[in-house]
Amino acid sequence: MSDTAKRMAALAAAELVQNGMCLGIGTGSTAEHFISILGERVQSGLSITGIATSDRSAAMCRRLGIGLTSLDETPVLDLAIDGTDEFDGGLNLIKGGGGALLREKIVAAAAKRFIVIADGSKQVDVLGAFPLPIEIIPMARIPISRRLADLGASVALRLDAAGTPFQTDEGHWILDSAFGPKISAPEAFAKDLSAWPGVVEHGLFCGMTERVLVATADKVTTIRS
Ligand code: 5RP
Repeated sequence: MSDTAKRMAALAAAELVQNGMCLGIGTGSTAEHFISILGERVQSGLSITGIATSDRSAAMCRRLGIGLTSLDETPVLDLAIDGTDEFDGGLNLIKGGGGALLREKIVAAAAKRFIVIADGSKQVDVLGAFPLPIEIIPMARIPISRRLADLGASVALRLDAAGTPFQTDEGHWILDSAFGPKISAPEAFAKDLSAWPGVVEHGLFCGMTERVLVATADKVTTIRS
């Protein structure tokens, strides 16, 4: 069901794509549905360029013949489409489950419109049941972990399949920080976290999302900010 819902949301997002657009292209299983639909459209003659939010999404785009560019060449994007791990009623997000939050935030911020695609399980009243990913400089791991623990989070360094620290596409580490569903003032917390030395980026996306296309059962609903 969840996979069907992800595809339904991705199909709804693909309808917003028009010829000639430059698109931000997200990361994760929902975004991969979007990339696959985009690939089919490109093979049928749609002309777009994309900026991918991860090496993995970029590789998938290349396989499907979706042309890629960079923010150097195209600093302003028409539209960015991405998934999310959670969203609340104010369209604040927790992202980064796939480890791409830094590039995802850069691309979303460069887009005139940022639209999120999700299945219904991602909608929450209060953010935080999903552990908040925080991308850090490795040297700052312990001080940042202690500060997070002081705020009540249970903190885990993300590991890869070999049991060594997971490295983001930009070479940083991720602290998955479980607060429980208690992040009731995400904007203030986001600002606070951004000022901590050693934090490169965090997975709170506040005030960025134009709308969420959320698929539940047999329909896609649009939730606007
Ligand atoms: C990757 C992300 C993804 O958008 C998020 O993890 C959702 O993934 P999925 O669509 O697989 O549930 O932020 O960094």
